[in-house]
Amino acid sequence: MATYLIRHTPRLSGEVEVSTAKNAVLPILAAGLLTEDPLIIKEVPRITDVETLVSILRDCGAEVNRSGADLSVCALQPQSPQNEERMRKLRASILILGPILARTGSACVGLPGGCAIGQRPIDLHLKGLQALGAQGHPLGGMRQLSGRLTGARIYLDLPSVGATENLMMAAVLAQGNTVIENAAKEPHIVDLANFLNSMGADIRGAGTDTIKIRGVEHMHGCNYSIIPDQIEAGTYMVAAAATDGNVLIKNVIPKHLESISAKLLEIGCEIEESDDAVRVVASKPLTHTHVKTLPYPGFPTDMQPQITVTLGLSKGTSIVTESIFENRFKYVDELTRMGANIKVEGNTAIIDGVPGYTGASISAPDLRAGAALVIAALAAEGITTIDDIKYIERGYEDFHLKLASLGAQIDKISTE
Ligand code: UD1
Repeated sequence: MATYLIRHTPRLSGEVEVSTAKNAVLPILAAGLLTEDPLIIKEVPRITDVETLVSILRDCGAEVNRSGADLSVCALQPQSPQNEERMRKLRASILILGPILARTGSACVGLPGGCAIGQRPIDLHLKGLQALGAQGHPLGGMRQLSGRLTGARIYLDLPSVGATENLMMAAVLAQGNTVIENAAKEPHIVDLANFLNSMGADIRGAGTDTIKIRGVEHMHGCNYSIIPDQIEAGTYMVAAAATDGNVLIKNVIPKHLESISAKLLEIGCEIEESDDAVRVVASKPLTHTHVKTLPYPGFPTDMQPQITVTLGLSKGTSIVTESIFENRFKYVDELTRMGANIKVEGNTAIIDGVPGYTGASISAPDLRAGAALVIAALAAEGITTIDDIKYIERGYEDFHLKLASLGAQIDKISTE
């Protein structure tokens, strides 16, 4: 068990380098199950979600090794995982279903878990795989699917990121052509498609709402470099805004950050973009705005808690509407204990900006809300302790060290 101890940090300043994207790395590692050839994935972040998925892949018979920053994956004879408990630790564990089914003709997996931010069903994954010809049934807490996959036209009721990824990975080895309509368009969908194409797949249209896949017989190995983490970058951008900071965030794709930059500009920050970096300067008092989370290119739900924390310190009344997950304002109770004035009604938070927060003893309820509470603590007068930082460590590499390099007064304390 570990806790962050955070003291008031009036101004974050300096430069910070963003790691590769968690939400791209996870499906790409799962896609390693599609070939018997070795794959090298460059610069994989040291976060616990990656560690958990690696242990699931090993349970599936894959050999996964770290060499410095890189991971190698080799899945000679993949099989369904034996350890159901591990599957529950991670929502993205469901992403092994498509690859194992496509490669071996049958898969039996435990139902996934992950951060408690809403129901998170997998019906769209299952419906899509069934449209590709898989037949299956629940088996205790498990899902059994089998069948030779053939291409099909699949319409997703919602542009689910995970379902789009699972179906792309299944369809690359299906016989014939697949079209996924109303597909998710997130940057990590495009990255997964690029990775699969580097393995020999034939995917077109990733990044639009129609993805076309021509099935191939065989996938092969490759070396691949993953995109930078949009949400990690956004978190440091918002941290700069909330602390009157001046921070250069390096190793980013500014295009992926447009919706975040637009909101920070609206509330009074200055944003300077270059090819692979973005600077956020907050030199004047911030003002209110409205934010609604939407699928990409809209404002990401994974940035909702961080922007809410910042709007809690901005003059006037802001409204944040969460339209992706139904239970993503749980952290507001903790923020209220730090002095925020926020009322949650259904999927909407009405935020009356306060001049400042005060330190408190709080807990991280999930990954992104945990990061948001760290930002609140940096801006708060006094000392804050944050428990349950294991959630934050699921998705942020060296979070406290990177913040400390920007001048944050943050220590990680082991409470064993
Ligand atoms: C991914 C991201 C997560 C992000 C989310 C939305 C990864 C590893 N995780 O999660 O960080 O918050 O996208 O951008 O990439 N839904 C269904 N049925 C399904 C699948 C989803 O109803 O079968 C619903 C969900 O309950 C949710 C919405 O669709 O309301 C979006 O979920 P989805 O895009 O699938 O999110 P994840 O892939 O789980």
